[in-house]
Amino acid sequence: MPSDRTEFVTQTADETIALGRELAATMQAPLLVLVSGELGSGKTTLAKGIISGLGAAREEEVTSPTFTLVHVFHGVSKSHAKVYHVDLYRVTDFHDLETLGLEDALSEPGVLLVEWSERFHLRSDWPRLAIHLEHRGGDSRRIMIDKPEPQSQA
Ligand SMILES: Nc1ncnc2c1ncn2[C@@H]1O[C@H](COP(=O)(O)OP(=O)(O)O)[C@@H](O)[C@H]1O
Ligand SMILES: [Mg+2]
Repeated sequence: MPSDRTEFVTQTADETIALGRELAATMQAPLLVLVSGELGSGKTTLAKGIISGLGAAREEEVTSPTFTLVHVFHGVSKSHAKVYHVDLYRVTDFHDLETLGLEDALSEPGVLLVEWSERFHLRSDWPRLAIHLEHRGGDSRRIMIDKPEPQSQA
């Protein structure tokens, strides 16, 4: 399947946040932003850039939803779409997944950013932007962005 893949390397957390802001400028709801990569690779840091770049919250308001699992930002994002920040790290089975209420999130066009997206496949026909982060030693991170064609419904 054809896809556009772009790769970046950042050397600091601030550079990753700046990249997130740049990505946000190209985003349009509805969109699933699927962020994968091991612990500490920078998923939440990137989310700070994306969600603040969307105008949905200030950078410092974007924190890890590790325990609360879902954060909703009603802030006036550019498109007036709601922005959801989800972390699937502690979600162990489909029952857990159902308790998150993601169907509600997916019921109106918004931006749904998912950390640990590799854990579960979310059923949705929204376009997907897949981002994978990797440690490269020290503070260096490789950030791969895969933008598949929007899924067409059969
Ligand atoms: N280049 C970089 N990009 C992102 N985070 C970095 C970078 N260099 C250092 N860090 C630090 O690594 C940690 C990444 O944590 P976090 O974003 O919470 O990761 P995750 O959500 O993937 O577990 C933060 O403490 C951040 O300051
Ligand atoms: Mg995180």
